Amino acid sequence: MNYKIGVIPGDGIGPEIVKEARRVLDTAAEKYGFSLEYTELLMGGASIDVHGIPLTDETIAEAKTKDAVLMGSIGGDAKTSPWYQLPPEKRPEAGLLKLRKSLNLFANLRPAYLYEELKAACPLRDEIIGDGFDMLIMRELTGGLYFGARRTVVENGVREATDTLVYNENEIRRIAIKGFDIARKRRKKVCSVDKANVLDSSRLWRSVVEDVAKDYPDVELSHMLVDNCAMQLVKNPAQFDVILTENMFGDILSDEASMVTGSIGMLSSASLNETKFGLYEPSHGSAPDIAGQNIANPIATILSAAMLLRYSLDQDAAADAIEAAVRQVLKDGYRTVDIMSEGCTQVGTEEMGARIAERIR
Ligand code: IPM
Ligand code: MG
Repeated sequence: MNYKIGVIPGDGIGPEIVKEARRVLDTAAEKYGFSLEYTELLMGGASIDVHGIPLTDETIAEAKTKDAVLMGSIGGDAKTSPWYQLPPEKRPEAGLLKLRKSLNLFANLRPAYLYEELKAACPLRDEIIGDGFDMLIMRELTGGLYFGARRTVVENGVREATDTLVYNENEIRRIAIKGFDIARKRRKKVCSVDKANVLDSSRLWRSVVEDVAKDYPDVELSHMLVDNCAMQLVKNPAQFDVILTENMFGDILSDEASMVTGSIGMLSSASLNETKFGLYEPSHGSAPDIAGQNIANPIATILSAAMLLRYSLDQDAAADAIEAAVRQVLKDGYRTVDIMSEGCTQVGTEEMGARIAERIR
C-alpha cells in the first residue's frame, strides 16, 4: 500500500518537528509494510515569502489529491515579523482558516490527557489530579464567529466592528454526530458546552445536540455553560470525556485543557471532514523564539502523525506502535527541555525523534 501525504512544514519550529514526525512515520511504515509518498506544501509565512499570500489555490487543489496532510505550525512573532504588517486576510493564520474551510474540515479533535510520567509538570494540585484525566475536545472548526460576516465601519467618527456567530442546524448536527461516535469508542460521555443562557446560536446548538443524542442511548449527554466549563477544567478535569463545542469556545477551552495537562508540547490534533481525509497538526504554535535551535519538543507532531495513520489510513497497528514508543521514551527518562525534570536525560529535537523511531523498530 502506498499513501500520498501532503506535508506543510510551515514556520518557526514547524520544519524541525515535521522532520522528526516523518522520520518516525517512515520507520513505522517500513515495519508495518506500507509506504508514504510526501509532497511538501507551502502555507503560512513560508507561502507569503514565496507567493505573497498565505495559501494559494494551487496548494489547496494539491492538498485535495492527498490521503492526508501533516502540518507543523504556522505564524511568526506578531511584533517583529513583516508578515503582520500585511492586512489580516493576507497573514499566516488566514491561510490556515482558508485551508480548513476549503477542505471542509469541520471536526477538530484535540485530546488532552495527563501523562503519568509527566505528572510533575501538571500545574494542578495532587488532590485535584487524582488518578489523572483523559479528555477529548471536539471543536467545530468551520463555522461560528470565525466564519460569520465581519466588518469594521466608521460612523459619525466612531469606529465600530462586528463579528457574527452563526450556525445552522446541519452544521451542528454533523459535529454532534462526530462527537457521539467518538464518545462510543471512549468512556461514552459527551458534555456539550454552550452559552445557552445568553446566545440564540447556543440554544439551537443545545436543541440539535439533544436530538442527535436520541440515536445514542448508550452515551450519556450533559450540558455545561462555557464559563462554568472553564472553571471545571481546573477544578475537576477528570469529569470530562468528550467535550463537544463550537469553534470559538473550543479554541479557548482547548488551550486551557492543554495547559492543565502541563505538557502542551505533547498534544496532537486532527481536523476531519466527512471522508477519510484529515489535516493533522500539533496543538501548540510555531514558537518562533526557539526556532532552529534543535530544542523544540517534536512529540505533539509525532503523535499527530499517529492520529493520521489511525484516522486517515486505517493503519491502527502502526499508530499504536508510535504511541507506545513515545511512552517508552518517556519511561526511559528522555525529555526535551520543556518537559525536563530532575534525574532525566535532556535531549534535543532530533535526538527525541531518533529515540522514538528506534523504539518502533
Ligand atoms: C488554533 C489556533 C488558530 C485558531 C489560529 C492560529 C487562527 O489558535 O488552531 O487553535 O484560532 O483556530
Ligand atoms: Mg487556538
